[in-house]
Amino acid sequence: MTQIRYIEANGTEYTVEAENGVSAMEAAVKHGVPGIDGDCGGAAACATCHVYVDTDWIAKTGPAAEGLEKSMLEFAEDVQENSRLACQITIADDLDGLALRLPEKQH
Ligand code: FES
Repeated sequence: MTQIRYIEANGTEYTVEAENGVSAMEAAVKHGVPGIDGDCGGAAACATCHVYVDTDWIAKTGPAAEGLEKSMLEFAEDVQENSRLACQITIADDLDGLALRLPEKQH
């Protein structure tokens, strides 16, 4: 199990014990974290799982992938350099403690 922290725009924080191998979107939805909708089920086709990776963690998660993920992020609001689609972040041991900040709203 890997601990993932989801932090709402208002500072409310949710810490989730996520299974390795699932996506950060799936872990959030499974544990009822508000603000990550995951409407497309993780196919990088809806951008309702937009998150900001805490800057301390961007080296571990990497930036948004060229192609599908970056294109889909164009549909999200307030995209920043550390924006990712949570469905494209796979939980693994080396992400233990990862902090993901949620946008004010999904589009
Ligand atoms: Fe649809 Fe991530 S769940 S883009």
